[in-house]
Amino acid sequence: MAGAQDSRLAIAVCEAGGLGSVPCGMLNAEQIVNEIRAVRSATDKPFNLNFFCHEMPEFDIEKQLVWQDTLAPYFAEMDIECPPPVESASRMPFNHEIADAIEPFNPEIISFHFGLPDKDLMKRVKGWGSRVLSSATTLDEAVWLEENGVDGIIAQGYEAGGHRGMFLSDDLSAQVGMFSLARQITQSVNVPVIAAGGIADAEGVAAAMKLGVDAVQVGTAFLLCDEATTGTVHRKALQQKRAQYTALTNLFSGRPARGIVNRAMSELGYLNESAPAFPYAATEITQLRQRFESAGRDDFTPLWCGQNVSGCKSIPAAELLKQLAANIA
Ligand SMILES: Cc1cc2nc3c(=O)[nH]c(=O)nc-3n(C[C@H](O)[C@H](O)[C@H](O)COP(=O)(O)O)c2cc1C
Repeated sequence: MAGAQDSRLAIAVCEAGGLGSVPCGMLNAEQIVNEIRAVRSATDKPFNLNFFCHEMPEFDIEKQLVWQDTLAPYFAEMDIECPPPVESASRMPFNHEIADAIEPFNPEIISFHFGLPDKDLMKRVKGWGSRVLSSATTLDEAVWLEENGVDGIIAQGYEAGGHRGMFLSDDLSAQVGMFSLARQITQSVNVPVIAAGGIADAEGVAAAMKLGVDAVQVGTAFLLCDEATTGTVHRKALQQKRAQYTALTNLFSGRPARGIVNRAMSELGYLNESAPAFPYAATEITQLRQRFESAGRDDFTPLWCGQNVSGCKSIPAAELLKQLAANIA
């Protein structure tokens, strides 16, 4: 969960018997190496490295200026200047530089979000022996992933918090809930399937496993755990009644992602056509976020969260994992 955790949560999960993931989508090669070293020095259990693999769009300065105009009233409200647009991105796709940096560590498992990287990168990753996972949000995506060499498929249901891993279509009406998706995928592919989306307690785990999946993936329920890096305003929102109101929004990055509805989403619309393409929508809004957060406000914070917050608990991750696994023999 990029932005809400680092190796600390991954280590706790691995040590407790789960497969902890280190989110690398917002890190550079050096930071990724530091994270790998941190995990390897704390546990000898296998762990997962997670990357984004979106195609970087052309930086469109005109689009960026339109976005700045849309956000101008909020910059004025907080009495800050919006600097001229510059090409910079906090979310970079998996690339050869990163592959060079992680190869010496022989990572056991690598997962991708937004499809798969180019064939030559896939060849490298598979060549050094990593098992590869990726998210599918439709049956078509699952079949495509299997055809393109994944070792396992994460069936990411519509309920899930954070970015939709969608990559074959941008039609949100074709996105599928976890129960329907996991079932269709298990009946259609031969690789292991991992159910994700809305799973928050032992009963949810058991119900998902009954669909014939091989494992489950849980995100939202860990957001309040001691080891998560979830920010203060985000933690607060997760514990409020409003956490039941989530929506898919492109405002914070340019791609649809599920989060708790906040002021930015209410006033600008969940899906705003003037938001620049992923990942360039994030630049200006991050400055607003920081300013509002310094005043204790979540108006411009991406409050990533799935539809089911019932499992969020302020406890150690090992304890949460134990509770989630209570019905597994
Ligand atoms: C705060 C947050 C950040 C996330 N970041 C990532 C990410 O960096 N990479 C990724 O593959 N999935 C990410 N996800 C999606 C999760 O991998 C997973 O699909 C989802 O959390 C499962 O649904 P749930 O949130 O209902 O448990 C994120 C989810 C959340 C809640």
